[in-house]
Amino acid sequence: MKIVILTGAGVSAESGLGTFRDEGGLWTRYDLAEVATPEGYAADPDRVLGFYDARRANARGAMPNPAHAALGRLCAAPGHDVTLVTQNIDDMHERGGAPDAIHIHGSLFEALCAACGHVWPHREDMSRADACPACATVGTVRPNVVWFGEIPYRMDEVVAAIEAADLFVSIGTSGTVYPAAGLNEIARGAGVRTLELNLDASGGRFDAVREGPASEIVPRWVGEMLAEA
Ligand code: APR
Repeated sequence: MKIVILTGAGVSAESGLGTFRDEGGLWTRYDLAEVATPEGYAADPDRVLGFYDARRANARGAMPNPAHAALGRLCAAPGHDVTLVTQNIDDMHERGGAPDAIHIHGSLFEALCAACGHVWPHREDMSRADACPACATVGTVRPNVVWFGEIPYRMDEVVAAIEAADLFVSIGTSGTVYPAAGLNEIARGAGVRTLELNLDASGGRFDAVREGPASEIVPRWVGEMLAEA
Protein backbone atom coordinates (compact mmCIF):
# COMPACT_ATOMS: atom_id res chain seq x y z
CA MET A 1 0.00 0.00 0.00
CA LYS A 2 1.23 3.54 -0.87
CA ILE A 3 0.97 5.61 2.29
CA VAL A 4 1.83 9.28 2.80
CA ILE A 5 2.17 10.35 6.43
CA LEU A 6 2.33 13.98 7.60
CA THR A 7 3.52 14.60 11.15
CA GLY A 8 3.50 17.69 13.33
CA ALA A 9 4.73 18.68 16.77
CA GLY A 10 2.27 16.32 18.48
CA VAL A 11 4.30 13.28 17.42
CA SER A 12 7.29 14.65 19.38
CA ALA A 13 5.32 16.03 22.33
CA GLU A 14 5.89 12.88 24.43
CA SER A 15 9.61 13.15 23.72
CA GLY A 16 9.45 16.36 25.72
CA LEU A 17 9.81 18.72 22.75
CA GLY A 18 6.51 20.49 23.29
CA THR A 19 4.14 21.84 20.66
CA PHE A 20 3.32 25.32 19.41
CA ARG A 21 -0.35 26.02 20.04
CA ASP A 22 -1.30 23.81 22.94
CA GLU A 23 -1.39 25.25 26.45
CA GLY A 24 2.17 26.31 27.29
CA GLY A 25 3.18 25.83 23.66
CA LEU A 26 6.09 27.68 22.08
CA TRP A 27 3.94 30.39 20.49
CA THR A 28 2.33 31.08 23.86
CA ARG A 29 5.80 31.93 25.22
CA TYR A 30 7.54 33.60 22.27
CA ASP A 31 6.44 36.14 19.68
CA LEU A 32 6.80 34.11 16.49
CA ALA A 33 7.29 37.34 14.52
CA GLU A 34 10.49 37.95 16.46
CA VAL A 35 12.01 34.46 16.21
CA ALA A 36 10.45 32.71 13.19
CA THR A 37 10.37 35.28 10.40
CA PRO A 38 13.06 36.74 8.08
CA GLU A 39 12.18 40.17 9.51
CA GLY A 40 12.81 38.95 13.05
CA TYR A 41 16.19 37.57 11.99
CA ALA A 42 17.13 40.82 10.25
CA ALA A 43 16.10 42.86 13.30
CA ASP A 44 17.97 40.77 15.87
CA PRO A 45 19.92 37.79 14.46
CA ASP A 46 21.50 36.93 17.82
CA ARG A 47 18.05 36.56 19.45
CA VAL A 48 16.95 34.24 16.65
CA LEU A 49 20.17 32.16 16.74
CA GLY A 50 19.79 31.89 20.53
CA PHE A 51 16.15 30.76 20.22
CA TYR A 52 17.11 27.92 17.88
CA ASP A 53 20.23 27.05 19.92
CA ALA A 54 17.89 26.33 22.86
CA ARG A 55 15.53 24.23 20.71
CA ARG A 56 18.50 22.36 19.19
CA ALA A 57 19.88 21.58 22.67
CA ASN A 58 16.44 20.29 23.72
CA ALA A 59 16.27 18.09 20.64
CA ARG A 60 19.80 16.74 21.22
CA GLY A 61 18.76 15.74 24.73
CA ALA A 62 15.41 14.23 23.73
CA MET A 63 14.66 10.59 22.89
CA PRO A 64 12.35 9.29 20.17
CA ASN A 65 9.08 7.96 21.63
CA PRO A 66 7.14 4.80 20.63
CA ALA A 67 5.35 6.73 17.87
CA HIS A 68 8.66 7.54 16.13
CA ALA A 69 9.84 3.94 16.50
CA ALA A 70 6.58 2.57 15.11
CA LEU A 71 6.75 4.90 12.10
CA GLY A 72 10.36 3.77 11.59
CA ARG A 73 9.17 0.16 11.48
CA LEU A 74 6.44 1.02 8.99
CA CYS A 75 8.88 2.90 6.73
CA ALA A 76 11.14 -0.17 6.73
CA ALA A 77 8.30 -2.65 6.05
CA PRO A 78 8.71 -4.29 2.62
CA GLY A 79 4.96 -4.58 2.12
CA HIS A 80 4.33 -0.82 2.13
CA ASP A 81 5.64 2.18 0.19
CA VAL A 82 5.70 4.94 2.82
CA THR A 83 6.50 8.62 2.27
CA LEU A 84 7.04 10.25 5.66
CA VAL A 85 6.62 14.03 5.57
CA THR A 86 7.20 16.11 8.68
CA GLN A 87 6.65 19.71 9.69
CA ASN A 88 9.01 19.10 12.60
CA ILE A 89 12.59 20.34 12.57
CA ASP A 90 13.86 17.87 15.17
CA ASP A 91 15.61 14.58 14.28
CA MET A 92 13.30 12.24 16.19
CA HIS A 93 12.05 10.48 13.04
CA GLU A 94 15.61 9.76 11.90
CA ARG A 95 16.58 8.53 15.36
CA GLY A 96 13.36 6.49 15.42
CA GLY A 97 14.36 4.60 12.27
CA ALA A 98 13.02 6.75 9.41
CA PRO A 99 16.14 8.17 7.73
CA ASP A 100 14.34 9.57 4.69
CA ALA A 101 11.79 11.81 6.39
CA ILE A 102 11.00 14.85 4.22
CA HIS A 103 11.45 17.98 6.37
CA ILE A 104 9.23 20.52 4.61
CA HIS A 105 9.98 23.10 7.33
CA GLY A 106 13.71 22.39 7.36
CA SER A 107 15.93 21.07 10.15
CA LEU A 108 17.42 22.34 13.42
CA PHE A 109 20.52 20.34 12.54
CA GLU A 110 21.39 22.13 9.33
CA ALA A 111 22.71 25.65 8.75
CA LEU A 112 21.82 27.85 5.79
CA CYS A 113 23.94 30.70 4.47
CA ALA A 114 21.64 33.71 3.98
CA ALA A 115 24.15 35.05 1.42
CA CYS A 116 24.69 32.11 -0.95
CA GLY A 117 22.03 29.57 0.05
CA HIS A 118 24.55 26.85 0.94
CA VAL A 119 23.19 24.25 3.44
CA TRP A 120 25.45 22.19 5.68
CA PRO A 121 25.06 19.92 8.72
CA HIS A 122 25.33 21.87 11.98
CA ARG A 123 24.57 20.26 15.37
CA GLU A 124 26.04 22.86 17.74
CA ASP A 125 25.18 26.45 18.70
CA MET A 126 25.30 28.99 15.89
CA SER A 127 27.10 32.32 15.95
CA ARG A 128 27.21 35.23 13.55
CA ALA A 129 31.00 34.84 13.76
CA ASP A 130 30.60 31.55 11.85
CA ALA A 131 31.72 31.73 8.21
CA CYS A 132 29.85 29.97 5.43
CA PRO A 133 32.00 26.99 4.32
CA ALA A 134 31.02 27.67 0.69
CA CYS A 135 31.25 31.45 0.22
CA ALA A 136 33.26 32.29 3.38
CA THR A 137 30.86 35.14 4.20
CA VAL A 138 30.68 35.87 7.92
CA GLY A 139 27.50 36.94 9.71
CA THR A 140 24.99 35.22 7.39
CA VAL A 141 24.61 31.85 9.14
CA ARG A 142 21.03 30.92 10.08
CA PRO A 143 19.20 27.70 10.91
CA ASN A 144 17.95 25.91 7.80
CA VAL A 145 14.40 26.37 9.14
CA VAL A 146 11.53 27.57 6.96
CA TRP A 147 10.15 30.70 8.62
CA PHE A 148 6.69 32.19 8.23
CA GLY A 149 6.47 33.82 4.83
CA GLU A 150 9.10 31.50 3.33
CA ILE A 151 8.51 28.59 0.94
CA PRO A 152 8.47 25.08 2.45
CA TYR A 153 10.81 22.51 0.93
CA ARG A 154 9.95 19.71 -1.55
CA MET A 155 6.19 20.42 -1.66
CA ASP A 156 5.90 19.39 -5.35
CA GLU A 157 7.35 16.00 -4.44
CA VAL A 158 4.98 15.70 -1.46
CA VAL A 159 1.88 16.60 -3.48
CA ALA A 160 2.83 14.11 -6.21
CA ALA A 161 3.25 11.36 -3.60
CA ILE A 162 -0.16 12.16 -2.08
CA GLU A 163 -1.90 12.12 -5.46
CA ALA A 164 -0.47 8.64 -6.13
CA ALA A 165 -1.20 7.30 -2.62
CA ASP A 166 -3.78 4.83 -1.32
CA LEU A 167 -3.86 6.45 2.13
CA PHE A 168 -2.94 9.82 3.66
CA VAL A 169 -2.39 9.93 7.43
CA SER A 170 -2.05 13.13 9.48
CA ILE A 171 -0.42 12.67 12.90
CA GLY A 172 0.00 15.23 15.68
CA THR A 173 -0.73 18.44 13.82
CA SER A 174 -3.34 21.13 14.38
CA GLY A 175 -3.62 21.69 10.62
CA THR A 176 -3.35 25.45 10.99
CA VAL A 177 -0.27 26.32 8.91
CA TYR A 178 -0.45 26.19 5.12
CA PRO A 179 0.52 24.65 2.76
CA ALA A 180 0.93 21.61 5.07
CA ALA A 181 -2.56 22.19 6.46
CA GLY A 182 -4.06 21.77 2.99
CA LEU A 183 -2.52 18.38 2.23
CA ASN A 184 -5.50 16.38 3.51
CA GLU A 185 -7.74 18.34 1.11
CA ILE A 186 -5.35 17.51 -1.76
CA ALA A 187 -5.66 13.85 -0.76
CA ARG A 188 -9.47 14.06 -0.65
CA GLY A 189 -9.52 15.80 -4.03
CA ALA A 190 -7.46 12.95 -5.47
CA GLY A 191 -9.82 10.33 -4.03
CA VAL A 192 -7.24 9.17 -1.46
CA ARG A 193 -8.51 7.82 1.87
CA THR A 194 -7.59 10.06 4.81
CA LEU A 195 -6.96 9.27 8.49
CA GLU A 196 -6.11 11.55 11.41
CA LEU A 197 -4.26 10.31 14.51
CA ASN A 198 -4.22 13.16 17.05
CA LEU A 199 -4.57 13.85 20.75
CA ASP A 200 -7.77 15.71 19.91
CA ALA A 201 -9.46 15.88 16.53
CA SER A 202 -8.10 18.94 14.72
CA GLY A 203 -11.43 19.58 13.02
CA GLY A 204 -9.98 18.96 9.56
CA ARG A 205 -11.91 16.75 7.11
CA PHE A 206 -10.76 13.11 7.36
CA ASP A 207 -12.51 9.84 6.51
CA ALA A 208 -11.51 8.54 9.96
CA VAL A 209 -10.14 10.08 13.17
CA ARG A 210 -8.53 8.34 16.13
CA GLU A 211 -7.89 10.40 19.26
CA GLY A 212 -5.24 9.73 21.86
CA PRO A 213 -1.54 10.24 22.62
CA ALA A 214 0.70 9.42 19.66
CA SER A 215 2.84 7.05 21.73
CA GLU A 216 -0.28 4.84 22.12
CA ILE A 217 -2.39 5.27 18.99
CA VAL A 218 0.44 5.34 16.43
CA PRO A 219 2.00 1.98 17.41
CA ARG A 220 -1.52 0.47 17.46
CA TRP A 221 -2.27 1.73 13.95
CA VAL A 222 1.18 0.70 12.64
CA GLY A 223 0.62 -2.78 14.08
CA GLU A 224 -2.60 -3.04 12.06
CA MET A 225 -0.82 -1.90 8.90
CA LEU A 226 2.06 -4.36 9.39
CA ALA A 227 -0.46 -7.18 9.88
CA GLU A 228 -1.99 -6.23 6.51
CA ALA A 229 1.36 -6.02 4.67
N1 APR B 1 -0.09 12.94 20.74
C1 APR B 1 -0.74 13.26 19.60
N2 APR B 1 -1.07 14.54 19.26
C2 APR B 1 -0.72 15.51 20.14
C3 APR B 1 -0.05 15.24 21.35
C4 APR B 1 0.27 13.89 21.63
N3 APR B 1 0.91 13.54 22.76
N4 APR B 1 0.13 16.43 22.00
C5 APR B 1 -0.39 17.39 21.21
N5 APR B 1 -0.91 16.84 20.10
C6 APR B 1 -1.56 17.51 18.98
C7 APR B 1 -2.42 18.68 19.38
O1 APR B 1 -3.75 18.25 19.63
C8 APR B 1 -2.33 19.58 18.14
O2 APR B 1 -3.36 19.24 17.22
O3 APR B 1 -0.53 18.04 18.18
C9 APR B 1 -0.98 19.23 17.53
C10 APR B 1 0.05 20.31 17.73
O4 APR B 1 -0.37 21.43 16.98
P1 APR B 1 0.64 22.66 16.83
O5 APR B 1 1.19 23.01 18.18
O6 APR B 1 -0.07 23.69 16.02
O7 APR B 1 1.87 22.07 16.00
P2 APR B 1 1.93 21.82 14.43
O8 APR B 1 0.59 21.45 13.89
O9 APR B 1 3.06 20.88 14.20
O10 APR B 1 2.36 23.27 13.85
C11 APR B 1 2.57 23.36 12.46
O11 APR B 1 3.34 25.62 12.74
O12 APR B 1 4.60 27.06 13.99
C12 APR B 1 4.56 26.37 12.82
O13 APR B 1 6.41 25.58 11.60
C13 APR B 1 5.69 25.38 12.79
O14 APR B 1 5.72 23.14 11.97
C14 APR B 1 5.00 24.03 12.79
C15 APR B 1 3.64 24.36 12.19
